[in-house]
Amino acid sequence: MLTTGSQIFQAPTQTAETWWRSAVFYEVYIRSFQDSNGDGIGDLRGIQQRLPYLKQLGIDAVWITPFYPSPMADFGYDVSDYTGVDSSFGTMEDFDRLLQSAHDLGMRIVIDMVLNHTSDEHPWFAESRSSRTNPKRDWYIWRDAQPDGSPPNNWTSFFGGSAWQWDAHTGQYYLHLFLDRQPDLNWRNPEVIQAMDTVLRFWLDKGVDGFRLDAINFLVKHEAFPDMPVVTNATGGDLVQYHVYVNNQPELHPLLQNVRRVLESYPGERVLIGETGTLKAPELSQFYGAGLDEIHLPMIVLPLHTAWQAQAMRACLLEFYAGLPQGASPHFVFSNHDDKRLITRYGFEHHRSIAMLLLTLLGSPILYYGDEIAMCDTYVPPEKRVDTAGMIDPDHYPGRDPNRTPMQWDGSTNAGFTGTAVEAWLPVNDNRSTINVAVQEHDPESTLTFYQTLLRLRSDSRALREGSIQFLEDCGDVLAYVRECDDERLLIAINFGGAAHILDLSALTDHVHCVLSSRMQRPEAVSVAEVALNAYESVLFRLASNKEG
Ligand code: NOJ
Repeated sequence: MLTTGSQIFQAPTQTAETWWRSAVFYEVYIRSFQDSNGDGIGDLRGIQQRLPYLKQLGIDAVWITPFYPSPMADFGYDVSDYTGVDSSFGTMEDFDRLLQSAHDLGMRIVIDMVLNHTSDEHPWFAESRSSRTNPKRDWYIWRDAQPDGSPPNNWTSFFGGSAWQWDAHTGQYYLHLFLDRQPDLNWRNPEVIQAMDTVLRFWLDKGVDGFRLDAINFLVKHEAFPDMPVVTNATGGDLVQYHVYVNNQPELHPLLQNVRRVLESYPGERVLIGETGTLKAPELSQFYGAGLDEIHLPMIVLPLHTAWQAQAMRACLLEFYAGLPQGASPHFVFSNHDDKRLITRYGFEHHRSIAMLLLTLLGSPILYYGDEIAMCDTYVPPEKRVDTAGMIDPDHYPGRDPNRTPMQWDGSTNAGFTGTAVEAWLPVNDNRSTINVAVQEHDPESTLTFYQTLLRLRSDSRALREGSIQFLEDCGDVLAYVRECDDERLLIAINFGGAAHILDLSALTDHVHCVLSSRMQRPEAVSVAEVALNAYESVLFRLASNKEG
């Protein structure tokens, strides 16, 4: 007999203003979503064309990856002009129209903001590297070589190799935590803060609904630039470096408060989403700010790196809920443009359970484009690979091309992403004839229909949007939890295992209604309080009575 036993976590009070607390976000990797002009690269007009699809799916807010002018060394995460639009993505008028259309449909637009670094082709960096005495020299992080000519310290780039690049012209090294074409800005310089405030205001003046702050935990570096600790990994092989002197430095938090103040000087609630790395609950919590005055939604990505195993997931989630500051809302990210797609990571048999979990947890979820039709990674042959980050040291950092291939809208040659005679910037998956929107939108049992149904249930249910969450005691391969608000009481049960499971819910209720199963074909039925879960099945039940309360 199963009982609730763990702590009850309450959702913070919600108002129409705090829309972001339970909003469903959707990441559009712009190059791959929809090409409107036949150049094989997705663009702003393409996103605008597909807004009705996103609305129909049940999305509240769209995060668009960088579309600013860029030499595309990191496909837009190397910005050369923060207040423009790259011609491959369209024009500023296209952006304005997209924003207006989204607002007309009642949806919000969150844009990516890359504050940690610029492109090496940004005019600020061109000035900075022009001479040691240039007024913008100190906008970036320059250091002398060690006496033997080697880099100033042992810091490594996340993409592999040293984080320092030698500049022969001025005889110093500059710091780049990512590609050498992405020099890090010096956020200890007040002029940098000022310049970025102006950038934020430019977009806020246009009416964007918020920013996703890229690599925000790395903004400030330790003042003394000490060597990082180095350890041997579990297999005694490669040395692993902990980036402790660039991650979450104390001086970062006043900067985040400043960004929040800029946002709050505008009417309405705009949101700050933060890419804060794979931090555990205690450290991640700091990004909300001691007075909840920093980032609204630090991205919780740790579940994404947790084994798909009921007890491991339960422990991971419990730790986050328990560690959240009072009044903070969790933001769960299970997939994105930097990691393997869900199905490739966890296996096809689990993909609907992952959706069930993500969309029924307390907090705001984000989907990665194509999750809703069960897209998986695509094999990209070596001659078609374009992610330079994955070419430096593939064992250390594999390329991200396989999880960024074009959205599959239909079964045609280029899956409706671009014209059939065009070569898309990355290959389209061969499975497009079955894994596509056109096929799935008319199939009552498809993954797309499952997502849509789940999102509709979520939108209609206060318990799912703003109810409390309580995990049931250990039930083997099944992860189960109750979401509750007023007299609505839902139980979500996810079978992670390959064997059927009987759940005895008689301690919780007299009888249950099955509202939605990952198998779709279960009718909405009333049954006694003992229910059977098939292998890998996940089910949302309505508990008809409350025996505990
Ligand atoms: C994180 C982004 O998600 C990733 O795609 C990018 O390469 C790095 N930050 C550098 O901007």
